Amino acid sequence: MSSVVGVHAPKGLEGVVATTSGICYIDGEAGVLAYRGYDIHELADHSTFEEVCYLLWFGRLPKADELRQLRSRMAEERKLDPGIVKALQVVPKHVPAMDVLRTLTSTLSYYDPDNARNDHDANVNKAIRLTSQLAMLVANYDRIRNGKPLVEPDRSLSHAANFLLMLNGVAPSATAERALDIALILHADHELNASTFAARVTAATLSDMHAAITSAIGALKGPLHGGANEAVYRILETIDRGKADPVEHVRGMLAAKKKVPGFGHRVYHTEDPRATHLRVMSRDLGKSSGQPQWYKMSEKIEQFVKAEKKLNANVDFYSASTYHTLGIDEDLFTPIFAVSRISGWAAHVIEQLDDNRLIRPRADYQGPDYPNRYIPIEKR
Ligand SMILES: CC(C)(COP(=O)(O)OP(=O)(O)OC[C@H]1O[C@@H](n2cnc3c(N)ncnc32)[C@H](O)[C@@H]1OP(=O)(O)O)[C@@H](O)C(=O)NCCC(=O)NCCS
Repeated sequence: MSSVVGVHAPKGLEGVVATTSGICYIDGEAGVLAYRGYDIHELADHSTFEEVCYLLWFGRLPKADELRQLRSRMAEERKLDPGIVKALQVVPKHVPAMDVLRTLTSTLSYYDPDNARNDHDANVNKAIRLTSQLAMLVANYDRIRNGKPLVEPDRSLSHAANFLLMLNGVAPSATAERALDIALILHADHELNASTFAARVTAATLSDMHAAITSAIGALKGPLHGGANEAVYRILETIDRGKADPVEHVRGMLAAKKKVPGFGHRVYHTEDPRATHLRVMSRDLGKSSGQPQWYKMSEKIEQFVKAEKKLNANVDFYSASTYHTLGIDEDLFTPIFAVSRISGWAAHVIEQLDDNRLIRPRADYQGPDYPNRYIPIEKR
C-alpha cells in the first residue's frame, strides 16, 4: 500500500526540483556551472576565493573597497578560542581530519558572539567567521597530530595563502597559492548537492548556521560525495606502490562491479566544467614539481573509463593528483573541499532563512498494510 496515492519518489530524488534559488546555475547537458550567473571558467581565470565569497553571500560582484573590506573581515576572523585549540589537542591522533572538522565545527558555536541570533546580518557574520575558522581547524589539527607547533595566521595574506602557511609552516609559492585559490573557487558552490540540501533542511527548522554547516559536513564526508577525492588518491597510490598498470587496475575494479571514484555525476552528462580546470592544474603542477606520474596515471584512467563506461571525470578526479602534488595529505582532501564549500553552504542557509518554510517532504509508504493488528507478545 502507499500513503501518498499515485506519487512515487524517483530513487535518490533524481530530477526533483526541491527549491527555488538564485545562487548557482547548472546546465548538466551543456556542462555549464555559474555562480550568480557568472560562468565558472571566467571566475576561475579572473577571480579570487574572497571575491567569490562576496558574490555568493551578497549576490553581486564587489567594488574594490567592498572586496578590501571583506578580505579584512575574513582576515580578522582568523582566530580560534583557546577552548577550541584545547579540544583539537585532546583528539586521539588517529581520528580522520574530516571527523574532527565535523565535530569541532559544531563546537565553534559555543564561542560565536552571534550564537543567539539567527537573523540575516548575524548569519553573514557567521558565514565570514566560519569560512576563516574552518580553514584554521583543518590546518591546526594537521599540525597538532603531526607533533608540529601551531602557526600563527598572517592577516596580510589571502585565504588560500594563509591556509597553506598555517598548514605547512612556510609561505606558499605564488603558483601554489593560485592553484589552491582556483581549487577553492571551483568547489565553492554546486546548487542542491547532498551536503547543501542537508544544510538547507537543517536551517529550515530554524535551527542555526553552525548546526546547518555541521549537517553539511556530515553529508560531504561520504565517498559518493566529497569523500571521492580521497578515494581517488588511494587508487593512484595503490597503483603507484604496486607499479601496476593503471588501466588494468581500473579494469579489475569495473570487472568486480566497483564504482571508480572521481567518475560520473548525477547532473552533468558531459564534462564537469570544474574538471576542465583541475586537469590542467594537475598536469602543470605535476610538471613543475617533478612529479608528473600522478597526472599521467590519472590521464590513462580517465581515457579508459571514458571509452569503457562513457563516464566523465568529475571535480574529485583531478583534485586528488592536484592536492597531492601540492604536498597535502590525502585525508585533508575532503576537509579542504569543506574549507571552500562553507562559502556556498552559508549562502544557501542565508537564502533559505531569508524566505523560509520548513522542508518536510513525504515518503511513498511501501510497508505492511494498515491496519496491521497488534498481537500481544506472548501470542506472536
Ligand atoms: C556521482 C554518483 C554518486 C552519481 O550517482 P547516480 O546519479 O546515483 O548514478 P548511479 O550510481 O545510479 O549510476 C548509474 C550507472 O552508472 C554507473 N556508474 C556511475 N558512476 C560510476 C563510476 N564512478 N564507476 C563505475 N560505474 C559508475 C553505475 O554503476 C550505474 O550503472 P548501472 O545502471 O549499470 O547499475 C556516481 O556516479 C558515483 O558513485 N561516482 C563515484 C563517486 C564520485 O566520484 N562521487 C563524487 C561526485 S562529484
